[in-house]
Amino acid sequence: MVKPVLEGTAALVTGASSGIGAATAAALAAQGAAVALAARRKDRLEALAAGIRDQGGTALVLESDITDEKQAADAVGRTVAELGRLDTLINNAGVMLLGPAAGAPLSEWQQMVELNVLGLLYCAHAALPHLLRAAGDSPRQVADMVNISSVAGRAARNGNNVYSLTKHGVGAFSESLRQEVTKRYVRVSLVEPGATATELASHNRPEVLDSIRNQFGQTMGAEDIADAIIYIVTRPRHIAVNEMLIRPTEQER
Ligand SMILES: NC(=O)c1ccc[n+]([C@@H]2O[C@H](COP(=O)([O-])OP(=O)(O)OC[C@H]3O[C@@H](n4cnc5c(N)ncnc54)[C@H](OP(=O)(O)O)[C@@H]3O)[C@@H](O)[C@H]2O)c1
Repeated sequence: MVKPVLEGTAALVTGASSGIGAATAAALAAQGAAVALAARRKDRLEALAAGIRDQGGTALVLESDITDEKQAADAVGRTVAELGRLDTLINNAGVMLLGPAAGAPLSEWQQMVELNVLGLLYCAHAALPHLLRAAGDSPRQVADMVNISSVAGRAARNGNNVYSLTKHGVGAFSESLRQEVTKRYVRVSLVEPGATATELASHNRPEVLDSIRNQFGQTMGAEDIADAIIYIVTRPRHIAVNEMLIRPTEQER
């Protein structure tokens, strides 16, 4: 039998309780990785972990709010302590609160900056020493940080304001970090999904939901994005997929 590509490696997925994160965690486990699942909704994580274990995989549940610097660092620390290492970080947790800037609740802007930017940075900062070590001592001799941005990280549109700001920031940070660590075989990749059917839009205020509903036509499934992430992290050591922009075929912008 062919050995799964990620056997012997450990991955941490943030925002693993739903959508793209949950699908990616299951897909990483199917490739042989032990997976740490971080999010706030523990019951969701437990259900996903049970499914992974039923398939013979290893899953660790980390109830964490990664907007808290200590909880983010602890999620990384517990992954390394309990799974023995960290080869792959999927920086996925995010929130998208859209609508006109004029009159927007500042709390929504704060929430997006705290999670999409600071939460991602806290995880990246805590994980980097472990990823650098993994790239040096693992059988694959390569480690991965995959940062989930968005089409909104490529182009700003009316109504996307602060969400777009956070995702442009993720893109800039990723490219700078990529240049810093790529010769040490930590690959930093940016994934920019278009419309994907998840819980993401449901957190918007009802009036915003009404106005954005007709923007969403054809959608991809969370598994489609997980598939792209798996492609990235299973490349041989000498290939780094730096960036992937993925839209449903009918999505024009
Ligand atoms: N769906 C799309 O169309 C689309 C398009 C482009 C980019 N993206 C990006 O894809 C990523 C995943 O989103 P999704 O579409 O899969 O949406 P989702 O189903 O709403 O998933 C978001 C995840 O983030 C977690 N999360 C939220 N606040 C958190 C916190 N403070 N600490 C830890 N985890 C937290 C949520 O879990 P808990 O609530 O349990 O904490 C959930 O697991 C996001 O970065 C999003 O911006 C999505």
